[in-house]
Amino acid sequence: MTNFAIWFAIALAFVAVVILRAAPTRTIPDPKGNRLQPPAVTGGSIIGLLHTLCTKGLRAMVRDQYTKLGSVFTVSFVGLKDYFAKWGQQGKVNLKKELDHLLMLISGRCLLGKEVREKMFEEVFMLFYELTDNGMRLSSVLFPYAPLPANRRRDTVRAKLSAIFTEIVRSRKSSGRTEDDVLQNLIDSKYGDGRSTTEAEVIGLIISLLFAGKHTSTIASTWTGAYLLSNPSYLTAAVEEQKQLVRKYSGYLDYGFFHEMDVLHRCIKEALRVHPPVPWFSRKVHKNFTVRTKEGQEYEIPRGHTIVSPVLFNSYLPHIYKDPDVYDPDRFGPGRQEDKAGGKFSYTAFSGGRHACIGESYAYMQIKVIWSHLLRNFELKLETPFPETNWNKIVPEPKGEVTVSYKRRLLPIQ
Ligand code: HEM
Repeated sequence: MTNFAIWFAIALAFVAVVILRAAPTRTIPDPKGNRLQPPAVTGGSIIGLLHTLCTKGLRAMVRDQYTKLGSVFTVSFVGLKDYFAKWGQQGKVNLKKELDHLLMLISGRCLLGKEVREKMFEEVFMLFYELTDNGMRLSSVLFPYAPLPANRRRDTVRAKLSAIFTEIVRSRKSSGRTEDDVLQNLIDSKYGDGRSTTEAEVIGLIISLLFAGKHTSTIASTWTGAYLLSNPSYLTAAVEEQKQLVRKYSGYLDYGFFHEMDVLHRCIKEALRVHPPVPWFSRKVHKNFTVRTKEGQEYEIPRGHTIVSPVLFNSYLPHIYKDPDVYDPDRFGPGRQEDKAGGKFSYTAFSGGRHACIGESYAYMQIKVIWSHLLRNFELKLETPFPETNWNKIVPEPKGEVTVSYKRRLLPIQ
């Protein structure tokens, strides 16, 4: 896991820089008049921002964007509006399935590229669905090589996905055609000694990227929705925040718009506390160290051992989180900040230390983009009971269908 994660992080950081440089920004003529609209930032460049944010911090990221785009720009996030345009005036949907589809489209745009998005999206979507469905069962994780039907299916679909991506990589290489996506950047990457990435490495990395970023975000956005739609006071607060921001930004969705969604941010953060998609993580001990419990008991942890941090348990510690079973986004708000008050590693939904999730900002961004759009454009109601957790998966997810009814609306902002 650690090797995988290192490769993954290096690759992501590298490709993010290249994407940022190559990110297409356009100035669009105003359809109604002669004025020009500000440059649009696309989904690919949002991944690029992630790298700057992680390596240089928020200020540097904003400065970079200012240098590049000027003080006014808009965000065009991989056809989100087009996606929801296919919903009718009103109706019912399985929210979990819709978000799964949408997040795959976002990943398709940012990671896999236009061949998949334009020609074989449904096929890749189904294969990836089967890969996660079969590969994330507890039985597959505990007995990865056992001759179980789920393991066989996992291996078959993995081979089919590899074949599809191999074909794309070969066709790009032989035609000399390049694209603006993460796959291309993995193909073009070189190691320190000048060696190029192999086909197998590129395919392995792109599938790993999908695994780390897509499924976790689908689950986090589904839980966030289920909680918002079951808690009228938080739903009202989140909608009110949208109204205020739309008014403040006169409808232009730039970065400030998403960074100022504190209420929605806390609602997502709390959903992740109560339902962490990664319920535990492990670390290999490289040198002996001592830990002291709250009660003062000391333990020596010897080198060579593997330690496990159970996020699922830590997120419910009552001396850190008041009434930990209650969904209460305000616990992270001004004056309380229970995660900060509790100490450095009190909140570990994105892990901590050297191998903390580098996709955290990107994950929040894409979930906020989706949920702010839904809150602004639809009245939503949860039709099925609040979902139970499917503990049969290593990334525990909402069990069964999460049916939501919707009705289009235009948010009154006065
Ligand atoms: C809500 C969504 C997400 C959650 C809850 C989440 C959670 C985590 C956790 C807990 C880890 C640490 C695992 C460990 O220590 O064993 C991790 C690692 C990682 N995540 Fe995420 N993640 C999310 C989304 C993403 C996204 C969108 C990306 C990128 C597109 C991403 C990329 C990574 C990478 C590269 C690592 C490995 C970091 C390293 O080991 O240095 N994650 N994630």
